[in-house]
Amino acid sequence: MSGTSLRSRAALAGALSVAVIFVGAPSAALAQAPPWDADPAVEQRVEQLLDQLTTEEKADLATGELNNFFGFYNNPIERVGIPAQPMADGPIGVRVANPEIDRRTTRFPSGTAMGATWNPALVEQVGAAIGDEAFHTGHNTQLGPSVDIPRSPLWGRAFEGYGEDPLLSGTIASGYINGIQSNPVMATIKHFVGYVQETDRFTYDARVDDRTLHEIYAKPYELAIQNSHPGAAMCAFNRINGVYACENPLMNTLLKGDYGFRGFVMSDYNATPSTARAANNGLDQEQPGDQGPDSANFGARLVAAVAAGDVSEGRLDDMARRILRPMVGLGLFETLPRADRAFDADAHSALARQVAQEGSVLLKNERRVLPLRPGGRLRSLAVIGPDADNASAQGGGSAVIPFATREISPLAGIRARAGDNVRVTYAAGTDGVNEGDLLGGPVPVPSTLLRPAGGGAADRGLHARYWTNTTFDGAPKVDQTDPEVNVNFGFQNWFSAASPKATQSATVAAFAARGDFSLTGSISARWEGNLIAPATAEYTLGLTARGDATLRIDGEVFATTSGDRVVTVGRAIRLVGGEPHTIRIDYSAAALNGYQGGQVRFFWQHPEDVLSPAMRDAVADARAADAAVVVVRDYETEGAAREADRPTLDLPKEQDLLIRAVGRANPNTVVVVETGAPSKTSTWEDSVGAILHAWYPGQEQGGAIADLLFGDVNPSGKLPATVPADEGQVPGIEVDDVVDFDEGVFVGYRGFGQRGLTPSYPFGHGLSYSRFAYRRLQLRGGTGDATATFTLRNASNRAGSEVAQVYIGRLPTRFVATPPRQLAGFVRVPLAARQRERVTVTIPRRSLSYWDSGSQHWVTPAGRVQVYVGSSSEDVRLAGVVNVR
Ligand code: BGC
Repeated sequence: MSGTSLRSRAALAGALSVAVIFVGAPSAALAQAPPWDADPAVEQRVEQLLDQLTTEEKADLATGELNNFFGFYNNPIERVGIPAQPMADGPIGVRVANPEIDRRTTRFPSGTAMGATWNPALVEQVGAAIGDEAFHTGHNTQLGPSVDIPRSPLWGRAFEGYGEDPLLSGTIASGYINGIQSNPVMATIKHFVGYVQETDRFTYDARVDDRTLHEIYAKPYELAIQNSHPGAAMCAFNRINGVYACENPLMNTLLKGDYGFRGFVMSDYNATPSTARAANNGLDQEQPGDQGPDSANFGARLVAAVAAGDVSEGRLDDMARRILRPMVGLGLFETLPRADRAFDADAHSALARQVAQEGSVLLKNERRVLPLRPGGRLRSLAVIGPDADNASAQGGGSAVIPFATREISPLAGIRARAGDNVRVTYAAGTDGVNEGDLLGGPVPVPSTLLRPAGGGAADRGLHARYWTNTTFDGAPKVDQTDPEVNVNFGFQNWFSAASPKATQSATVAAFAARGDFSLTGSISARWEGNLIAPATAEYTLGLTARGDATLRIDGEVFATTSGDRVVTVGRAIRLVGGEPHTIRIDYSAAALNGYQGGQVRFFWQHPEDVLSPAMRDAVADARAADAAVVVVRDYETEGAAREADRPTLDLPKEQDLLIRAVGRANPNTVVVVETGAPSKTSTWEDSVGAILHAWYPGQEQGGAIADLLFGDVNPSGKLPATVPADEGQVPGIEVDDVVDFDEGVFVGYRGFGQRGLTPSYPFGHGLSYSRFAYRRLQLRGGTGDATATFTLRNASNRAGSEVAQVYIGRLPTRFVATPPRQLAGFVRVPLAARQRERVTVTIPRRSLSYWDSGSQHWVTPAGRVQVYVGSSSEDVRLAGVVNVR
């Protein structure tokens, strides 16, 4: 166990970050010993091993073995003492797949929350804890961090990474990797490169120009390789400018060439498109590799390619060398992983809580609605939200942590903190959020309008039967009550982050957990029961579905769908409040591409003043309470089809309407947003006093949220991504297999600035219960790195932390267009009440440069560069000019 050394290293980095952040320079402790990738002793041992290996053994090292116990796996070569590589998925924690051991691990907050801490030293502690858990659950390779820069917050997987700025992302990733690798565990930086959407992710072509690649999408790799030396990198599924990532020369030229990466590149799941081309262009290991005779592109095919001279012996040596180098260098030979679970779950849980505290962003706080003050004016509190009573909000897909070591829901955390003198009520307001909410179009008919056929008076929802054929043949595989018809079955259910209240999701996930994936394949299904409208009004009812669906109301066919695309079909109907109508929905669809199963929703549209019974109950609670806390969430996931990206930035299930209705009923309404990437606040923010953006806040979410709402902890997180006012301000998800990165380097806030768009909340924004003043800016330019020195003062009576940010303006060049503002450095400064501190932030020369595609060099234009220092990208407190020579 390397706990002590990693803690002291983290402490050192923490101390360093208080005074100065040298982005781009390794910490003093790291500089002393040569890193594993520059250690002559490591090279010598690797060469000795290589000398003993046969061609077949080298090819075997380069070819994983499918082993369901692990994310990926590579078998040992016992003859020469090379250990196995059991790998675990991340990056939010360790996803243990081995069902033979207790699989509980710490579910940390999402990458976006880690990014929002702007605290690489804290994230280094997270990495250390994750590495420790990986090791003690039997792994020596961790499949994280994810440093994909999202082009758009609509991307289903944006929650995994550290936000939209490459400097922030690369700095946080470096902390994470240093933490992981303080254990005998290697980190895997992924997914190289241009991975920005789930739609068509196995094939789409990322058309991205060379400068944008260098300045934005590949930049986190450059920083992380320089500062933290990850042992492995993973190439992505997609193509880049016509060539699949795992056979793209960029692995050689950029990653290994320009950035000096000396570890190995492994493929994403079955993302190896070829043998010789992939090997020669830099892929070192195919994963998951052999899945039966001749199924792999490496393995026997690689041996044959070497025999034929299509891959040189030297290149095969290089592949094996690159795999062995981090294994030797990071101590994977000496200390074999154990599945003894000897990690400190309580300490790691406390760390998860700290990340949720530091990573939650207070977007708005009017009339000092926050902090809540129990006892005084606060005697009753209405907690509202579909999943406020559980801790299920997390990202789905390979990053899911299904079994947390403990969980505390927002409701439980708030109840515990509020104490006996505050009456806390709970109302869901809408149904639990699930992957069905990724279907576009109008929202599902809520369960409180539905009564299952054959059910009791108190039952809600519809009677559901599912068959694993498309013809309703034989006995149904499942017979249950579903709260709503809102199905989007497939890959996402194997790694589900759905509400426990979504029976349809829970059942499918439970089957998948037993290795039965039939429900996520071709299915038929039937739902039956009654619909009872909450008021007499004009409604629209209908279906959103892929495949054949028929909705019958009172025995009459009302709407039908067919075809291979998800479509929405509905029509108007006048319903009398309280009157039951029989409902029957017949549905069947064949599976698509092995990853996408049935997709169907029974939807409604209604006048804004007609609320479902569940929403009315929530509003009544809010009206009767002194304050209301609405906890909202969405569903974001890795997936493999169009309906894995987010259809809009709206909160699903009319949670925006829920917030507006609650906000009208109680002026002291606080919203806690649990979405992994930014979601729209513009449709509801005027109705509420305060907004806390908590991302996916992990297993300790309830404790952390209560700490912040009640003011036991002062909010200090800052947005790592812009909150757009609407979808028109951000790139959409592309559907024709080509993703044109036509915005170039103007990604995220760089684009908002360039196009003069006003977001709801700008990049870097985040409020505190303290006030911070900035004074006396001194800038130093010249021929090297520049610096910005200024005094930061806590002008309030309570302790707090400020993340001071340094941006540069446009570069003095006529040759390329540069962003009006770019993050160049930052520092997180904890300050006691009234304390002041003089801080210096380095502006690396690289930040004062652009990538010149013509000469293939970074160019630093000489001249005057504007520098902005402030509390967000828009809240500039000090400004000046540096002379760059
Ligand atoms: C994901 C990777 C993951 C791998 C192994 C893929 O679907 O894209 O991030 O590491 O699966 O589970």
